Amino acid sequence: MLEPSAPAHPRLEIVEIAGASADERFAHDVRVGLSAPAKAVPSKYFYDELGSALFDAITHVPEYYLTVAETEILREWGWEIVRMLHGPIEFLELGSGSSVKTQLLIDEALRVQPALRYSPIDISSQALRTAATGLVERHAGLEVRAVAGDYFTVLASKALRFERPVLAMLMGSNLGNYAPDEASALVALVGSVLRRGDGLLLGVDLKKDRAVLERAYDDPIGVTAAFDKNLLARINRELDADFDPRTFDHVVHYDEQRGCVESFLRSRYAQRVRIAAIGLEVDFAPGETIHTESSYKFDTGKIEMLADDAGLHVAKMWTDRAQRFAVYLLTP
Ligand code: AVJ
Repeated sequence: MLEPSAPAHPRLEIVEIAGASADERFAHDVRVGLSAPAKAVPSKYFYDELGSALFDAITHVPEYYLTVAETEILREWGWEIVRMLHGPIEFLELGSGSSVKTQLLIDEALRVQPALRYSPIDISSQALRTAATGLVERHAGLEVRAVAGDYFTVLASKALRFERPVLAMLMGSNLGNYAPDEASALVALVGSVLRRGDGLLLGVDLKKDRAVLERAYDDPIGVTAAFDKNLLARINRELDADFDPRTFDHVVHYDEQRGCVESFLRSRYAQRVRIAAIGLEVDFAPGETIHTESSYKFDTGKIEMLADDAGLHVAKMWTDRAQRFAVYLLTP
């Protein structure tokens, strides 16, 4: 199950969890999701190599304010964040992506301690390799032990070992992709690996005006639409399907009741798509949708409830000046 890969750098190790069956799992999830009465594909499959690059592009889109707001918080308060636990500390990050924002905290930590171990977990082993290599090359005091796989599998696998107080991080509103019961389970799972003296840093997008949210997820130049449609292109590439992504529209809707932006791909007309690798034919009615993502929005009440269920409590909260985004420190 553990497959350490060729070392790219003496201070870098990358462990792949369950890499062999990742393709089978994708095939299985596509089959199940597109055979269901309400079609859906899990959003974790956005992040192949092209998808990770497209997400990176989204973070440069002005309407997608989340990254700017979170970066503002880390620039302003990073010094305080790394001093909240009794150091020297180490970092564990769930869903690190390109690690651009994490660098701010790495810089701050290396100001108060000479060395730092950083364990990023990400579903995209390609993104991990690129980001981790850049990080160890830039920071002499940094040791990276990256684990490729989905959070639940990695956290449950005991592939992680810690020697110092751990600052775990779940940033970028990644928690927002989970349905409420899964989000509770994830925070509880992280909570179960934390000991006294450790902490969980949660970066989450806050509930706000519908128009602002819907523009963030359906930007005017169509970067987010391309990110969404890449899911169909990925199914074509990896499962030998014949989706024509041009015949689907990216549509979003903020469900205020549930505090959640829902993203869909909507078929412009009736059509049949063949997915050769899994021997599946999928019929679409005109206007029929594939649900591709839920992006939940939070407030302090919701975070306190999540923390409480996980045996944690809110030690501190930071926001950007416009109060669009928040970073919470939860401790056991
Ligand atoms: C990376 C999961 C936080 O939901 O805001 C960006 C992904 N989707 N634009 C989000 C995303 C559409 C994103 N997360």
